[in-house]
Amino acid sequence: MTAVSPVVGNTIYTFETVDSTQAVLGQLAADGAPEGTIVVARHQTAGRGSRGKQWWDAPGESLMFSALLRPPGPIAWAPQLSLVSGVAVVDALRARCDVDARIRWPNDVMIEGKKVCGVLPEAVSHADGRVNYVLLGIGINVHQREFPPELRDRATSLLMATGVVHDHALLLAATLTALDRRYGEWLSSGFRELRVEWRKRAGTLGQRVRIRGGGEGVAVDVDDTGALLVDAGRGALTRVVSAVADSVE
Ligand code: BTN
Repeated sequence: MTAVSPVVGNTIYTFETVDSTQAVLGQLAADGAPEGTIVVARHQTAGRGSRGKQWWDAPGESLMFSALLRPPGPIAWAPQLSLVSGVAVVDALRARCDVDARIRWPNDVMIEGKKVCGVLPEAVSHADGRVNYVLLGIGINVHQREFPPELRDRATSLLMATGVVHDHALLLAATLTALDRRYGEWLSSGFRELRVEWRKRAGTLGQRVRIRGGGEGVAVDVDDTGALLVDAGRGALTRVVSAVADSVE
């Protein structure tokens, strides 16, 4: 990988309401927007969650944005950006909100076992397998005092966790700064170095996890590619890889 100086947040588009910041940024990316471009919205009418789910928000209560990255490398490396984002969000939440946030592999950010932030990486690759661009969609629950019944047991907000109303703009600035730093580290050294930082912030290691596709076991580590290593009692560790929704241009 070549070391370049990224500038995450060099251009920021702010909207009141969009369908999805991923959709808006995807269009800008296809039109040639530069790496580091950000789309922020106060409300999404069709927010995208992982595995095709909808991402719920109430207007003004969440920090929701998408970041455009154009890493020079194969699409197979893109899932590592999920873990890089998790590290960056935890950095920002700890620095800005003084909260013990932890990563649930690959990139959910949790406080006391409840999800406070989700990250959605979506990529478009060239026909030869190189990345054209990655849209990193980040949704942080900031001001919610309550959630719809179906989320109540699983979700929390920064307000609920800390009792403090946190400023969206300051939190956005801290998250972009952290993302810029961690993305820059990943570009120059790959995930091998960041793995140490990911581990320090992990909530998953030592926990029992279900393996998609069948079985369960204890999460023991992540490897140099960001795959989760699970002891499912079969002798060798099971390697679980995270996926990035990818389409070819
Ligand atoms: C998840 O399900 O954990 C991922 C949620 C990602 C939500 C964010 S909000 C900003 C961006 N725009 C979207 O439509 N989704 C992501």
